[in-house]
Amino acid sequence: MTQVAGSSPLTMPQHVAIVMDGNGRWAKSRGKPRAFGHRRGARAARAAVEYCVRGGIPNLTLFAFSSENWSRPEEEVNLLMTLFLRALRNEVKDLVKHGVRLRFAGDLSRFSPALQQAMAQAVADTAAGTKLNLHIAVNYGGRWDIVQAAKALANQVQTGELDAASIDTELFASQLSLSDVPEPDLFIRTGGEVRISNFLIWQLAYTELVFTDVMWPDFDADAFEHAVIRFNRVQRRFGQTGEQVEAVGGA
Ligand code: IPE
Ligand code: IPE
Ligand code: MG
Repeated sequence: MTQVAGSSPLTMPQHVAIVMDGNGRWAKSRGKPRAFGHRRGARAARAAVEYCVRGGIPNLTLFAFSSENWSRPEEEVNLLMTLFLRALRNEVKDLVKHGVRLRFAGDLSRFSPALQQAMAQAVADTAAGTKLNLHIAVNYGGRWDIVQAAKALANQVQTGELDAASIDTELFASQLSLSDVPEPDLFIRTGGEVRISNFLIWQLAYTELVFTDVMWPDFDADAFEHAVIRFNRVQRRFGQTGEQVEAVGGA
């Protein structure tokens, strides 16, 4: 377990969800093209995966490409797709070695057949991983996620498999992306903006939110640890009073 010097061991979150933001500004501030920032951003993603494997965080979700990112210049979208394909080809061996199981969240149908094929292959190749579930959110939007869940339930009602009256929050959540892992307990957004940008809007309902000015390419193990320390400082009350939580915690 990770230990902060002179203090008690850290409680590791069970699911960290990260908005990896700031690649472009990081590059610009160095007089480099945005592409340079995205390349360095891929390195930072690798470091975050390593931190989770080493620290015993069992679930990591990385927001790599939002449903709104298609509106960027075509050249940048193409570059991101190329980097993505390259990462899939180059990283799978290491992911398998470290026990990482890779999966995707998002509407994958909009990607090229080559990319969809590479994604399916990487998912199959890493299926036996037990140390870390790594979810990459691509062409993902929180609103899309809620709509696709509503559609799935509506279909079941239409075929008579489901009674609409039995739809509750639990059943609804079971149709969303990432429903088979605990909801994120820690959300991190790098890059200084304080917004969700249509990430996991349902799943973040009770997540601890950590926003940092660190640009994504600079987000290293120390920065990750700093966010985990901030997570350890908060009391999670889930609607209860602090006294109630302390009574249970101290029992
Ligand atoms: C995040 O960095 C990566 C993606 C959205 C793909 P940005 O590309 O958004 O970088 P900034 O926010 O322009 O600095
Ligand atoms: C959020 O970053 C999406 C990803 C990190 C993939 P953006 O850079 O797209 O967010 P906005 O546009 O600043 O809200
Ligand atoms: Mg951005």
